[in-house]
Amino acid sequence: MIAVTGATGQLGRLVIQSLLAKMPASQIIAVVRNPARAADLAQAGVQVRQGDYTQPDSLISAFQGVEKVLLISSSELGQRTAQHKHVIQAAKQAGVSLLAYTSLLHADRSPLGLAAEHQATEALLKESGVPFVLLRNGWYTENYLASIPPALQHGAFIGSAAEGRIASAARADYAEAAAVVLTLDDQVGKVYELAGDTSYTLAEFAAELSKQAGKTIPYVNMPEADYKAALEGAGLPAPIADLLADSDTGASKGGLFDDQHQLSQLIGRPTTPLAASMKAALA
Ligand SMILES: NC(=O)c1ccc[n+]([C@@H]2O[C@H](COP(=O)([O-])OP(=O)(O)OC[C@H]3O[C@@H](n4cnc5c(N)ncnc54)[C@H](OP(=O)(O)O)[C@@H]3O)[C@@H](O)[C@H]2O)c1
Repeated sequence: MIAVTGATGQLGRLVIQSLLAKMPASQIIAVVRNPARAADLAQAGVQVRQGDYTQPDSLISAFQGVEKVLLISSSELGQRTAQHKHVIQAAKQAGVSLLAYTSLLHADRSPLGLAAEHQATEALLKESGVPFVLLRNGWYTENYLASIPPALQHGAFIGSAAEGRIASAARADYAEAAAVVLTLDDQVGKVYELAGDTSYTLAEFAAELSKQAGKTIPYVNMPEADYKAALEGAGLPAPIADLLADSDTGASKGGLFDDQHQLSQLIGRPTTPLAASMKAALA
């Protein structure tokens, strides 16, 4: 039995899809905080169990009889270390043989502010004695694709990543890697640095966008504070604007780059290229 937390999230749904291609639905448990949002998963034959990262007892029930757990990091920034601790404790109580955790690329030395909660979770995993594997995920290409509509509207793609190269991959690539690791033997203690096979600067991203959209969209690099203010001006909540601007600065220091190709090695195919993801987004 393999349990996937955050299974109604974007990554979680893709992991379940990948697992369904590898094993019987009856051996997959979708742990979700709101089962009403998982009717389609139940329809596919997956066991749906309620589990909230803030409610330890719900996680202990959800993990009964579970052999392996995928802990998909919470989206509730600032609350994540405490929430993840509950998941780790419940997995320990269930005696799981493997807990896979979606961490951040090079979490131990990442310049991104986002790394702090992942470092804390990795430390909790080490202390817990639970057998674990780290899936240190790089950037989802989708993060930058989300900025395409405003870029087209304003005629410029803005950011703070300067010349930093970004080795992103599609969310579905990371999901497939998680499904592979969950279904392989001998994963305890491994640390995967997962990133796209190819990388780009944001100027190159804007050039590809210009090519595909058929109009010139230059990349405009900004100081982090100005980029954050522009994002807030566009209506993003301050903490999200802060996170995105800080992550771009991290990218400018190489924080989103990796060229080890561990992701494509795990999934047995090249990662989804930027041009393909962008084409799908524009369509
Ligand atoms: N590598 C990257 O580029 C990148 C980008 C964004 C995020 N991330 C990280 O990767 C994770 C997965 O990404 P995603 O795109 O799938 O994000 P997402 O769609 O926001 O999914 C987050 C999942 O966390 C669940 N969750 C949040 N709080 C919870 C709680 N208290 N109890 C139980 N579940 C809770 C959500 O449940 P509901 O379905 O009920 O909302 C959702 O399923 C994110 O949460 C974040 O930590 C990585």
